Amino acid sequence: MTDDEFFKVLGIKGYKNILQFWSAMDEEYGLTRARQLESAYIKLEEGDDRTFYSMIYEEFDVGLAFASLRIDLYRSFVTWFKSQFNKEIDATIIDIGCGNGVLTCLLAANFPEARFIGFDISEAGIESADKLKQKLSLENVEFLTGDLKSLPKGLENIEADIAFSVASLDPGQQFEESAVNRSLSDLWQELEVSQKENGENLEDLVANLLKSDGGIFISFDKLVRPIQQMRRLQAMTAAGLRPDFAASAWLKYTDVQGEPVILPVISGRIKSGAAVEPPCNILDVIAFLIRKDRHFDEGSINLSYGQDALAEVAFTYLNPKTFIEGARADYRDGSGSIWQELWQAGPALILFEHSNHGYRGLELHPLTALDTIKNRHQRFIESSKDYAEVAVLEEAESRFTALKP
Ligand SMILES: C[S@@+](CC[C@H](N)C(=O)[O-])C[C@H]1O[C@@H](n2cnc3c(N)ncnc32)[C@H](O)[C@@H]1O
Repeated sequence: MTDDEFFKVLGIKGYKNILQFWSAMDEEYGLTRARQLESAYIKLEEGDDRTFYSMIYEEFDVGLAFASLRIDLYRSFVTWFKSQFNKEIDATIIDIGCGNGVLTCLLAANFPEARFIGFDISEAGIESADKLKQKLSLENVEFLTGDLKSLPKGLENIEADIAFSVASLDPGQQFEESAVNRSLSDLWQELEVSQKENGENLEDLVANLLKSDGGIFISFDKLVRPIQQMRRLQAMTAAGLRPDFAASAWLKYTDVQGEPVILPVISGRIKSGAAVEPPCNILDVIAFLIRKDRHFDEGSINLSYGQDALAEVAFTYLNPKTFIEGARADYRDGSGSIWQELWQAGPALILFEHSNHGYRGLELHPLTALDTIKNRHQRFIESSKDYAEVAVLEEAESRFTALKP
């Protein structure tokens, strides 16, 4: 069975947007029931996922109907999964927070030699998942009710080869506010400290499910911001799971509003002896973070205000770096200065703009754009002359300094 056939058999289909989905729900379940579900869905968007999931999983068909909202996410994850593991893989694979088991069953259908175990805190979800397994006559999957924080009996002593979470280990909002204008290495250190202070570490619990050597944890959770991505990487590292950046990737899918979403799928592996090698190199983390959907051959990378940490990262670690030219404009009204500096970093150009009030922007261009960027820099000089004293810089005056390699 192909993935498309799998979805078709279950009546799971893509909708252009959420309105189209709700009108299909109106038709199928009637206005009253559809409005009930819609108000639960609004709660989900406001952060109350318990009410929502217990409601949609209660009815087998309703749970499947809602899988339509995630069809592209599933496709994207399964495509990545198939790129990583051989079809014949003979492994024990755990789905943490499997919900009603749609994704677990889709993977089980794709990897017939593997044994899948899905577990979820929602009893209704697991009941639906069992029905789904029967409907599809799958023999290589089983489902258990259980909480990751107090593992169900069947999983207490398990030594799985792979455990994955898809949107079930989503982070809270903590750390987000503090992330702007900070150096990445400072943040990294703070995360390590808070990790120790907060005690509970879901990734530690995840590591307990895995083989102590070679076990793989895969997170495709809603890690939207670099700080959340960093935190997950750091927590995995603390749990002895070394992030594998060659296997990790940025996956793209279309959400229910028809908007493109890009999220990281992060793969980490337990290696015995991990204590002797450095658990995770911040340079690798940085390289992974700034790679998100950005390709030089498609044009420039623009890190503007709010992305200071990544800009700092790019500026500090793109080496070897040579200063090409720059200028400083001092406003005649005394309100401050702006610097622009052009650097070459290997095959890349960096245009770095900064004021005495702080960071403004950093652009990365391919070297082939040199003439265009030089022209832009000249235009900055010319137009600044109207309101500022402009000094051409013989050498670079400003740089990010907070990061120590
Ligand atoms: C967004 S749903 C994702 C379900 C499924 N992974 C999928 O992609 O269709 C999140 C799921 O995580 C489950 N969950 C949340 N916390 C959990 C925990 N501590 N242990 C097990 N499951 C949990 C919820 O019950 C819910 O079914």
